Amino acid sequence: MPALVLLGAQWGDEGKGKATDLLGGSVDYVVRYQGGNNAGHTVVVGDQKYALHLLPSGILSPTCTPVIGNGVVVDPSVLLSELSGLNERGVDTSKLLISGNAHIITPYNVTVDKVTERFLGKRKIGTTGRGIGPTYADKINRVGIRVQDLYDESILTQKVEAALDVKNQILTKLYNRRAIAVDQVVEELVGYAEKLAPYVADTVLVLNQALEDDKVVLFEGGQGTLLDIDHGTYPFVTSSNPTAGGACTGAGVGPTKISRVIGILKAYTTRVGAGPFPTELFDEDGDALRRIGGERGVTTGRDRRCGWFDAVIARYATRVNGLTDFFLTKLDVLTGWEQIPVCVAYEIDGRRVEELPYSQSDFHHAKPVYETLPGWSEDITKAKSFSDLPKNAQNYVKALEEMSGAPISAIGVGPGRDETIEINSFL
Ligand code: GDP
Ligand code: IMO
Ligand code: MG
Repeated sequence: MPALVLLGAQWGDEGKGKATDLLGGSVDYVVRYQGGNNAGHTVVVGDQKYALHLLPSGILSPTCTPVIGNGVVVDPSVLLSELSGLNERGVDTSKLLISGNAHIITPYNVTVDKVTERFLGKRKIGTTGRGIGPTYADKINRVGIRVQDLYDESILTQKVEAALDVKNQILTKLYNRRAIAVDQVVEELVGYAEKLAPYVADTVLVLNQALEDDKVVLFEGGQGTLLDIDHGTYPFVTSSNPTAGGACTGAGVGPTKISRVIGILKAYTTRVGAGPFPTELFDEDGDALRRIGGERGVTTGRDRRCGWFDAVIARYATRVNGLTDFFLTKLDVLTGWEQIPVCVAYEIDGRRVEELPYSQSDFHHAKPVYETLPGWSEDITKAKSFSDLPKNAQNYVKALEEMSGAPISAIGVGPGRDETIEINSFL
């Protein structure tokens, strides 16, 4: 009954897509449990590069069934274009299952996301503008539209009316925008119903039966621990729970079923959008990490903010997710630095603090306390085992493992499937 959760241990873009794809060939189901097309997961297979937003990365493994769980928010137009893009490249997507309880990102949710951000001005979150926050807000306010609503036009119309009632008042009177017509929205949504019908399923039942039948299920998180609505750097977060508990609520699987929780951890740190980031670099080291690491957003094309590895955050991710393992990615990007600083604690108002402070004011004032580790200059992209790594690279990995509180079971030394050092098997 092995059920594994694979999630981001930092602020997203840790390399979850590559890690999921790597395991995809050995698992029966890959399940997205939260978020939507705010995610951008890059998978490199041979000379082919895929950018996935909404589909689980397991879609590229022919033996695996990809599942969009109830906790995900689905933009039907994005989903259909992602599917047809993959079909054109010869990828079979017919096994996809979508929960009938997943919420739909409607066109008005996208509008509200964009106008709200504009209205916030310099206080903006820097969202991806994909309608994620407003769709989850509608879900919690109980005026959301679910995938199953597409199959009953009368109920759908009533629900869209209910959702637009208040929103149109706000759009016209506060934001000075035109009202959105109920009929137009309903017509657009009904237009997706038939195309999505072959995929819609009771995914909770399917997944629980699969676990009873000893199938291997992998839950793939979007975003990352520090972007979690409860455990992240609120309000500079996304509107869902990428942390391990989100896999249970977002897929309908009990916590007793989860056997392993793997945190994907970049060998340095990046962040997109606004919010605190203690180890952020504004100098040529930051520019070099961005350039060598190709740190540009897959979804929005924005440059990622870059900084040194932060062990305080990694320890926090271990704690809030109950991590059993880390998958350390992008170690190759650090090749060439003579010395590599690693943040081991913070200094806050003259005090040394070892753990992530719960107070937002403290976190905003946190200054990194660095320990410097010796670097390496040898090319590591061909390394196949831990012992192939230069001594200093081995020591860097061991130091990170010690500081972060869980074993590093795999190391990424390049973007390709085979550019990975496996230390402990995940299955
Ligand atoms: P995700 O959102 O967590 O799936 O990560 P992204 O795909 O947004 O960003 C990670 C980027 O790093 C992608 O371009 C990957 O192809 C690339 N990548 C993943 N692992 C490695 C690695 O070990 N080394 C290098 N050089 N690139 C990697
Ligand atoms: P993957 O899955 C990095 C960030 C946005 C913004 C905040 C809220 O590729 O790791 P949202 O549109 O979700 O309401 O934006 O969250 N964000 C991500 N940053 N990687 C992601 O996904 C992200 N998804 C959202 O930049 O700061
Ligand atoms: Mg990404």
